[in-house]
Amino acid sequence: MELIKVIEQHAPFVALIQLNRPKELNAINRQLMEELRDTLLHLDKNDNVRVIILTGNDQAFAAGADIKQMADKSAIDMVMVDQFSTWDQIRKTKKPIIAAVSGFALGGGCELAMTCDMIIASETAKFGQPEIKLGTIPGAGGTQRLTKAIGKVKAMELILTGRFISAEEALSDGLVNKVVPIEMYLFEATQLAKEIAQMSPVAVQLAKEAVNRSFETVLDEGLAFERKNFYLTFASEDQKEGMKAFIEKRKPEYKGK
Ligand code: CAA
Repeated sequence: MELIKVIEQHAPFVALIQLNRPKELNAINRQLMEELRDTLLHLDKNDNVRVIILTGNDQAFAAGADIKQMADKSAIDMVMVDQFSTWDQIRKTKKPIIAAVSGFALGGGCELAMTCDMIIASETAKFGQPEIKLGTIPGAGGTQRLTKAIGKVKAMELILTGRFISAEEALSDGLVNKVVPIEMYLFEATQLAKEIAQMSPVAVQLAKEAVNRSFETVLDEGLAFERKNFYLTFASEDQKEGMKAFIEKRKPEYKGK
């Protein structure tokens, strides 16, 4: 059984990936993550895709890493299999990924959403890192990304208690971009994706790279990186088209070149 479904042309230049283990609340096992990695690699190379949406279903984005698959493993099993290394592909994807989250986004599910570039949430979404209740800790970026997203004291509280937060709280904490009624979350994510897909894919990629660099470096180096990417856009046809279209008072047509 395929554990993810893919629609390559969900909207113009927008692909949709849906996690598809509904009975297990989209618990993330190795197969699911391997399929997701392979799909992202494929979509990243497809010129007809400029933005990717990652979603689950109304009940669950993902309720975490698959506890049943991990429960009996030894530390050495975990090291040798190193299943979380598959997750690196999400972060390495050059095109923007929008998480469209409804229901549970817990543990690895919250981490998966946070590894995406933006999060649109339904009013029913619940975020949390409940690993502490299982006698373990987040292992796919939760201690780092949640802390960067909502600050140390809130992240510490959530990670040490395993409590969930509502979509509204996630919005006021800065974890998500927008909260909408449940029937609108995929539509809203699609609108956002379509808007970004109209921009130069070259500029979008270079901008994403520069924003992400801010998490990994000091200001001086980050500014130098940004400046180089800015100058690099001037090697693209899209930059010429964008500025020409502005001057000619028309809509630009970007080619991703
Ligand atoms: N792993 C494996 N199976 C899971 C799962 C998970 N993370 N989350 C839910 N399921 C399964 C349940 O076992 C259940 O299966 P069965 O019908 O075969 O018993 C099915 O999904 C439905 O779940 P519930 O009956 O529990 O549904 P509920 O509505 O009563 O509760 C819930 C929903 C609060 C999300 C609850 O399922 C839950 O607490 N899930 C675990 C959440 C969690 O601890 N996640 C962290 C996992 S560890 C991790 O993610 C490590 C990391 O950093 C990567």
